[in-house]
Amino acid sequence: MKISIVGTGYVGLVTGTCFAESGHHVVCIDSDAKKIELLQRGGIPIYEPGLPELVKKNVAAGRLSFTNSTPEGVECSDLIFIAVATPPQPDGSVDLSFVEKVSREIASCLTSYKIIVDKSTVPVRTGEKVAETIARYSKGRVEFDVVSNPEFLREGSAIEDFMKPDRVVVGVASQRPVRAMKELYAPFNAPVMFTNIKSAELIKHAANSFLALKISYINAVSVLCEAAGADVQEVAAGMGMDPRIGRQFLNASLGFGGSCFPKDLSAFIATSQSLGYDFGLLKEVQKINTLQMERFVKKITDALWVTRGKTLGVLGLAFKQNTDDVRNSPAIALCHRLQAAGAGLRVHDPQAMDKARTVLNNVTWVADMNELAEGCDALIIATEWPQFKNLDLERARRALSHPIIFDGRNLFDPAEMERLGFLYKSIGR
Ligand SMILES: NC(=O)c1ccc[n+]([C@@H]2O[C@H](COP(=O)([O-])OP(=O)(O)OC[C@H]3O[C@@H](n4cnc5c(N)ncnc54)[C@H](O)[C@@H]3O)[C@@H](O)[C@H]2O)c1
Repeated sequence: MKISIVGTGYVGLVTGTCFAESGHHVVCIDSDAKKIELLQRGGIPIYEPGLPELVKKNVAAGRLSFTNSTPEGVECSDLIFIAVATPPQPDGSVDLSFVEKVSREIASCLTSYKIIVDKSTVPVRTGEKVAETIARYSKGRVEFDVVSNPEFLREGSAIEDFMKPDRVVVGVASQRPVRAMKELYAPFNAPVMFTNIKSAELIKHAANSFLALKISYINAVSVLCEAAGADVQEVAAGMGMDPRIGRQFLNASLGFGGSCFPKDLSAFIATSQSLGYDFGLLKEVQKINTLQMERFVKKITDALWVTRGKTLGVLGLAFKQNTDDVRNSPAIALCHRLQAAGAGLRVHDPQAMDKARTVLNNVTWVADMNELAEGCDALIIATEWPQFKNLDLERARRALSHPIIFDGRNLFDPAEMERLGFLYKSIGR
């Protein structure tokens, strides 16, 4: 099939590349001219394991190309995916202006039947609005179908997630697009679930909010563990062995962040409100997450007494491991908090330093994680990059003015850290 993807970000680029890999002809469109130029020159605008190789292979095979002209991409496609951002507004509801703009742009160049697939995460009933907008701006000249196909990939394992999904959710309003959607996803060997459009839209928000809830749940339990002298890791392991609960997303930490969970959670709360339901449970999830950061900052200030004038080394800036994405990163929020409290910062991230430079100022950027501790009063682990487990602890202990580590991701064993001579403060242990 011929496919175009409007919005070549974390989701759009992976989606387009994986469809090309499964044999389709894909045009990735983006309004950001610099991004398209970079892609056309063979560069990759994001860090995502395995993506550069796959893009290169499919471009070379003539199945994948890039443009910033929406008409150019849309006119030659059977399927058009919308994968633009859906950022939060100050009141928590979703800013749908990018989706609306793309809908108008698509409408203006429709000349024959197309399937328009929304892959952006949107509140329930957005599909109706997209269809209404396209009908209005194309002046009813051509037939089209709107489909909802929410994306569940995780940054850091996006290719694997896309190629081997747990499930594919496809929301449709008529039978006409069903065959093409079945054919599109056939190579991925995953259960394809057809629903109505509203259910598909709700599945995505309900799923992400549930995952955020699971994290806040274990974070709340971590508070009890600290108060009672239990170990949250042992509690999570014991809970997680029950298959009805599962061990995933039961890692206590300084809180969740990123470009999806916080905004999807607030969007789901706002949507519920507009549908007449006060989703108090999810408001508590947000509150626990905010408090978790407060508690971590307090742990640091309690131990250091005065932060003003101290130098702290922060390991990790991305919102999670294996990505360079710093949008809504708890690590960046923590850096800002510490700077506001007068601390000087030395920071390191294996992949996110370039993107972090756009949101973090007046810090010392350290390329080698083993040099971070030099001149520092304490180290802070803010992102769970697996390579941090290989930190040269002996060297760090010698470099720190006092051997103190605050671990917001529970990477190390407290008993072992004590044996090595550290004052080691982690979460829920
Ligand atoms: N990032 C994730 O892990 C993830 C996972 C699942 C779902 N989602 C959802 O997917 C959507 C996209 O997320 P993302 O992280 O890829 O966002 P992103 O910001 O990385 O990418 C969006 C892209 O759309 C482009 N764009 C905006 N307006 C445009 C227009 N009119 N025409 C062409 N291009 C335009 C932007 O320049 C940008 O490159 C969001 O709704 C998000 O919630 C994201």
